[in-house]
Amino acid sequence: MGRLQGQVALVTGGAGGLGRAIVERFIGEGARCAVLDRSAAGLAALEQAFGDKVAVIQGDVREAEVNDRAVALTLERFGTLDCFIGNAGLWDFNRPLVSLCGAELTAGFDELFGVNVLGYLHGARASAAALRQSGGSMIFTLSNAAHLPNGGGVLYTASKHAGVGLVRQLAYELAPNIRVNAVAPGGILTGLTGPASLGLNDRDIRSIGFETVADRIVPLGFIPTVEEYVPAYVFLAARAENVPATGMVLNYDGGLSIRGFMSPNGQEIAQ
Ligand SMILES: NC(=O)c1ccc[n+]([C@@H]2O[C@H](COP(=O)([O-])OP(=O)(O)OC[C@H]3O[C@@H](n4cnc5c(N)ncnc54)[C@H](O)[C@@H]3O)[C@@H](O)[C@H]2O)c1
Repeated sequence: MGRLQGQVALVTGGAGGLGRAIVERFIGEGARCAVLDRSAAGLAALEQAFGDKVAVIQGDVREAEVNDRAVALTLERFGTLDCFIGNAGLWDFNRPLVSLCGAELTAGFDELFGVNVLGYLHGARASAAALRQSGGSMIFTLSNAAHLPNGGGVLYTASKHAGVGLVRQLAYELAPNIRVNAVAPGGILTGLTGPASLGLNDRDIRSIGFETVADRIVPLGFIPTVEEYVPAYVFLAARAENVPATGMVLNYDGGLSIRGFMSPNGQEIAQ
């Protein structure tokens, strides 16, 4: 018997990277998953792999009506919704503010905040009634950039900091019926892309060579895989295992949030 037996989750950005790993693991734990993603190929691959355990909807998380349709499809196919996972995101490849002209800043802001913040709010809005009925929860993917500088540029960092406010305010507004929590992962080697408006849609985060410096940057000395991040989502979705949790942002980042000033792990000072 899986830890999420009989549960139903709706995952945005579930056709690739971390989201796809969440879907795989949730289904392995006995759940069924609806997935909202813009990638037709990624969604088709999910259907191929998981058959009637998944329901897919192609669209852009920035659109209110797409989120409404995703929740309606979830209820139609699976009869309930226990967990909304807001996860679809864009990165800004550390673009500094002064590298952006006025028009780029406006367009990049609209696109990146549209996906990373407005997309999460639309998902939360669309799923709230169903979650209230099931006594369910919301989980959002944030980042080390939700707490610290230099995990992105100012657009990404500000958008993930906004995610912390979103989690806390929604946890407050939706208590006691719906729990709202977040996972803040560190760097992961996924297909994470950037805003088309900044010309960053054809690159992904694997192109920056993070793996060549991870042992010097990450206190635990390695880059966790998507599969290693997913148990945090299982924990936050499994009702019996997180009874007191709401408004919580789980730092889950290989130690990036306790990285020291002089070295990542204090070894130089100890010698
Ligand atoms: N990769 C990392 O280093 C890292 C680190 C910390 C946090 N995160 C966060 O993890 C989350 C997932 O990212 P990932 O690394 O798995 O990237 P990914 O690109 O592999 O997966 C993201 C998915 O979201 C989808 N998507 C993007 N924009 C969309 C839109 N407007 N509408 C619908 N679907 C959309 C993509 O098609 C893709 O399937 C993001 O919120 C990201 O900020 C990633």
